[in-house]
Amino acid sequence: MALRTLDSLGSLAGKRVIVRADLNVPLQDGIITDDGRVRATLPTLNALINQGARVVVCSHLGRPDGAPDPKYSLEPVAQRLSELLGKPVAFARDTVGESAREAVAALEDGDVAIIENLRFNPGETAKDDATRRAFAEELATLGDVLVSDGFGVVHRKQASVYDLAEILPSAAGFLIEKEVDVLDRLTENPERPYTVVLGGSKVSDKLGVIDHLLPRVDRLLIGGGMLFTFLAAHGHKVGSSLLEADQLDTVRDYMRRAQESGVELVLPTDVVVASKFGADAEHVVTSADGIEDTAFGASGLGLDIGPETAERFAALVRDSKTVFWNGPMGVFELAPFAAGTKAVAQALTQVDGLSVVGGGDSAAAVRQLGFADDAFGHISTGGGASLEFLEGKKLPGLEVLGWQ
Ligand code: 3PG
Repeated sequence: MALRTLDSLGSLAGKRVIVRADLNVPLQDGIITDDGRVRATLPTLNALINQGARVVVCSHLGRPDGAPDPKYSLEPVAQRLSELLGKPVAFARDTVGESAREAVAALEDGDVAIIENLRFNPGETAKDDATRRAFAEELATLGDVLVSDGFGVVHRKQASVYDLAEILPSAAGFLIEKEVDVLDRLTENPERPYTVVLGGSKVSDKLGVIDHLLPRVDRLLIGGGMLFTFLAAHGHKVGSSLLEADQLDTVRDYMRRAQESGVELVLPTDVVVASKFGADAEHVVTSADGIEDTAFGASGLGLDIGPETAERFAALVRDSKTVFWNGPMGVFELAPFAAGTKAVAQALTQVDGLSVVGGGDSAAAVRQLGFADDAFGHISTGGGASLEFLEGKKLPGLEVLGWQ
């Protein structure tokens, strides 16, 4: 079944519309370091404002313990949202209390308010259905309809994501609609060649996605910290690099399955090995089977794919019609180990077809490395959510909007 979309709610002029967004942005000393998720909500918010809806935005931020914590206040986000919308955004200092009720009551057609962090209330994340439901009922008093647009949180069965969508007439906003459309194209009849590039530190975080995508892709390229578990499974020594010894059998099984089904599983042929973890570490390029043969011996630490591998990965990416990339190729936050990630990102911008950057670290990486969002086909705003979607899991926040 298809998602219920915004038009299914009819005219929203004069109505109080709760928008469940995912404004869970990284903050440093109260400053937003990446506002991608705030910008991603703009199409839906602008459409509602233009219709003359009275918009009540809500979101979580971080993982506070069900009680107010100033460190996780949405106030800086309200300010940024106001700048991006080019209009005032009223900020309520609580979620369902007096401040929220007043802010909503004061809204005129086309106005926007944002209520304080949903997770300041234990009911939002409660495992107990009745507790969660009771909080959703309180939230429901603030609106006439719900537009669910927080794609990054659709894998959570939480009050504002799931229960509220059952209580009020509800539909997906433009962001969720777009995310689902793009991610669905990665699992149903993707154009070929189809390449998936996986990185990040741990294989164990990617097991579900590898399992689900392995039979669907033409090539699987492995970089990031997880590559060392693959090299070790090949019998190579990996020095002090990240290694998940308990995943070696699983990885060997992937290699066997890839070979049986004709999937090209591409591992690095060279890596950048450092003397220690740090931007000032000495480092050399070595072959993937020679990590312990450098001057650093067994204490050598692999922190990026090497230049030969980066070039090969980039060529395979450019030669694809569909590409999904999740997880940096190296420690991109440290300049000497950013080249692999940069090369893959650059190649994604040159794909003649659909290129998708999976959220979380990879989205942060491309922005930090200076790439513009529109250089890619799509940058997902979901980290866990996009991976769970690609694992073929049922996501409560989508099911409740009609998606099967
Ligand atoms: C995310 O950052 O992936 C989403 O905002 C969900 O946050 P959570 O993992 O704290 O539920």
